[in-house]
Amino acid sequence: MFQTTSYNFFNQYFQKHNLSDNLQSTLNAIVNACIDISAKVRLGALAGVLGEAGSGNIQGENQKKLDVIANQILIDALQKTPAVAGLASEEEDSFVEANENGEYLVLFDPLDGSSNIDVNISVGTIFSVLKKNSSTKLCLQDFLQKGREQVAAGYVLYGVQTQLVLSLGDGVFGFTLNDNNQFILTKQNFSLPESTAEFAINMSNQRHWESPMQTYIAELLAGKDGVRGKNYNMRWVASMVAEVHRILTRGGIFMYPFDKRDPNKPGKLRLMYEANPMSMLIEQAGGSSINAIQNILDIEPTGLHQRVAVILGAKEEVKHVLSLHQK
Ligand code: AHG
Ligand code: MN
Ligand code: MN
Repeated sequence: MFQTTSYNFFNQYFQKHNLSDNLQSTLNAIVNACIDISAKVRLGALAGVLGEAGSGNIQGENQKKLDVIANQILIDALQKTPAVAGLASEEEDSFVEANENGEYLVLFDPLDGSSNIDVNISVGTIFSVLKKNSSTKLCLQDFLQKGREQVAAGYVLYGVQTQLVLSLGDGVFGFTLNDNNQFILTKQNFSLPESTAEFAINMSNQRHWESPMQTYIAELLAGKDGVRGKNYNMRWVASMVAEVHRILTRGGIFMYPFDKRDPNKPGKLRLMYEANPMSMLIEQAGGSSINAIQNILDIEPTGLHQRVAVILGAKEEVKHVLSLHQK
């Protein structure tokens, strides 16, 4: 039987980690903004937030009303927080300045899985916190740090429950939003099994994959009769945040591999807003995360909206995918 640990996120958790006031206020700003977003997501049509915004983002994707609303809630909250120097969002053309003397940078995907909003399936907010290392005027270079440099990473999943999953670099912790809009610690130290029999991939792209990925998925589909000698189950929610949450909770492997549809795009997911924060959580929980040939957290970023192939989850499976790509 699960025991709820009833201590409040805002106080004891920060104290336990001995966080500086600046980092506390940065995280508080993110989390409070997500509580506001959660309220809008919950109300859906009743708050008039469903459907298309009628606009597009810099990456050529159609925006949903909630993409735009969630983005603005986060920007407003972060700009009001003196500890935040600047921010970068999947929905903004370029980085956005916040406060001249701020110490932290916040990068986020305001609403992940937005194709699921109108059909009432889980969506979430993914965030990454970096330290601004220079004392000069905010510039693009300040943001282009490897995932390894992240001070904190996490997501808020607007699912059956609203849950915050956070890592400050010493494990992964889970909090559930209660009726009083407080996040209560409900999971200490997510831990990912090294092996799994569950995978997540959008199979409709199969014909576009490169041959190592074709080989890997063929092995999994062959089940007990194939070289892997066991049957695998498959899931695809099309919300990375829901997929990663499932993997942190019960294990698995998630893949959005490179495919040949658009050779200019090395993948669909974004390094700075999706892959880096999720990779930090997965590694902190004992899993691995690669772009097929390299650890994601070691990739030197070249652009804010850079895309990347992502293979993350159970160590044993990720290692096997890596070995297929090394052949
Ligand atoms: P976003 O809604 O922020 O654009 O991200 C959607 C992402 C990710 O959450 C998911 O894993 C993937 O796109 C789903 O893509 P397909 O629709 O191609 O399966
Ligand atoms: Mn996303
Ligand atoms: Mn998004």
